[in-house]
Amino acid sequence: MYRTRTCGDLRLADEGLIVTLAGWVQKTRKMGGMTFVDIRDRYGITQLVFNQEIDAALCEQANKLGREYVIQATGTVRERSSKNPHLPTGDIELIVSELNILNTAVTPPFTIEDETDGGDDLRMKYRYLDLRRSCVRKNLELRHKMAFEVRSYLDKEGFLEVETPVLIKSTPEGARDFVVPSRMNPGQFYALPQSPQTFKQLLMVSGFDRYFQIVKCFRDEDLRADRQPEFTQIDCEMSFVEQEDVIQTFEGMAKHLFKTIRGIEIKEPFLRMTWQDAMKYYGSDKPDLRFGMKFVELMDIMQGYGFSVFDNAKYIGGICAEGAAHYTRKQLDALTEFVKRPQIGAKGMVYARVEADGNVKSSVDKFYTQEVLQKMKEAFGAKPGDLILILSGDDAMKTRKQLCELRLEVAEQLGLRDKNKFACLWVVDFPLFEWSEEDQRFYAMHHPFTSPKPEDIPLLDTDPGAVRANAYDMVINGVEVGGGSIRIHDSQLQDKMFKLLGFTEERAQEQFGFLMNAFKYGAPPHGGLAYGLDRWVSLFAGLDSIRDCIAFPKNNSGRDVMIDAPSVIDDAQLDELCLKVDVKE
Ligand code: AMO
Repeated sequence: MYRTRTCGDLRLADEGLIVTLAGWVQKTRKMGGMTFVDIRDRYGITQLVFNQEIDAALCEQANKLGREYVIQATGTVRERSSKNPHLPTGDIELIVSELNILNTAVTPPFTIEDETDGGDDLRMKYRYLDLRRSCVRKNLELRHKMAFEVRSYLDKEGFLEVETPVLIKSTPEGARDFVVPSRMNPGQFYALPQSPQTFKQLLMVSGFDRYFQIVKCFRDEDLRADRQPEFTQIDCEMSFVEQEDVIQTFEGMAKHLFKTIRGIEIKEPFLRMTWQDAMKYYGSDKPDLRFGMKFVELMDIMQGYGFSVFDNAKYIGGICAEGAAHYTRKQLDALTEFVKRPQIGAKGMVYARVEADGNVKSSVDKFYTQEVLQKMKEAFGAKPGDLILILSGDDAMKTRKQLCELRLEVAEQLGLRDKNKFACLWVVDFPLFEWSEEDQRFYAMHHPFTSPKPEDIPLLDTDPGAVRANAYDMVINGVEVGGGSIRIHDSQLQDKMFKLLGFTEERAQEQFGFLMNAFKYGAPPHGGLAYGLDRWVSLFAGLDSIRDCIAFPKNNSGRDVMIDAPSVIDDAQLDELCLKVDVKE
């Protein structure tokens, strides 16, 4: 046996036991005639002790150990004289009687400790070493536990895990596909699934009325902290359900995860908000509700007093930051610079402080009487000590989005985005279509299989932009952790949808003929949802990026710097695939 115990489980109660441990050398220290070696494995760290006086040769051997050597040590568990309260094994040490070097190691390029000296790029290049660090390893342990709890919940709810293919035809989820050339079908390509959407709908036709899959999805889109080109969905679909059934089932799963993983019992139903309200009051379809600062519109109150910026605006709105009147001129100037950054694009920011006596002091005092400013204060319900921040613009949607960025920034500065606090929300009633000014056409907001609300179906002919969908997203702390919809199961309605989306009959047939055809053989009413597993894990782990809960993630340019992918392939391989590469500089 290589080991009888792990490096994380010995306690005072084990004193006197003779055990064998195996693991990596974390560090060695020499103190007088003693040598101390910290041995580490997945489970923890244990202190090994070598005594020059008792066994000089063994001590000599220990002195030669380098960092990250793989060793095996047998010895007796003893209570430590100076205990380490920071380690679970800190009450004991192992008096070693036998030491084996199982493998040597070259010096690692960074220290294998939580507070490492290795930068991002270096750690990604040597990710297998980075994964030895306990703070990284813990994220993967959490991920495992979450996947396990997901399976346990869904199994109890009668869901079957079914695998769907990875080499498929493109599914239109709005991102670009990753494509794979087919050697046996020259000039033809598979696409990697952006999600198993069409397959799960086909499984409903097959009668698997509760399907799920923890599945890799691939999207060729620009990377952000919450996006990876390959990521994992908890993908689900149900038959004979309405929106409420799906919401109940997956709210149940969310609560199960909160309880089993974070020990948080959520009894009350999650808040629900229409997409319209989310945009109106928070300027986002994924509002962070850990704090207030709901938008207040000020067109009626602030227009018509000669302040041309407001007088010419199509939208004036603001937020009230409770107790933030202490913001200095310098801080306010910095916030103004923040909203003026090109990524945000506001032209300026107006601010107003509510003073101790209730008076309002604003940056536009010369245009407004105290009476008007008091009306504004009341619209926010602001109190002495509060700070009001206002943006305006000629496009309501754009200005709301700018105000959303400002709201998040101020909340960050005020410490309101507490990672141990969770605000869960269903955003419902998404529009079915999104109009593209650039392409002068409608796109499906979710995907083309999403069903309109039955009461809005007549609007398909008269005002498609106003049609609401049976679609819903779950948002936690401003992160979209999942989304889904009730699907169209009526082929005529689906045809109409394709037409509105600008598909010719031939193109719809070419792209989705298989699904349309299947629907002719008795498609049950169905709907579903997919959660983003990476986002759930990083939320529960309090991570800033989903990258940190993925064993081997891609960097911001979509590269795996460890294996150096993507990379060129040789000419013979290209020839076999009938491909010619023509990279334009
Ligand atoms: P959607 O595109 O909303 O829906 O994706 C579902 C969930 O997957 C996660 N997600 C991502 N996570 C990490 N990196 C990405 N690039 C990424 N893209 C999406 C999000 C998101 O909420 N087929 C539909 C689901 C359905 O209708 O049932 C779909 O894929 O958490």
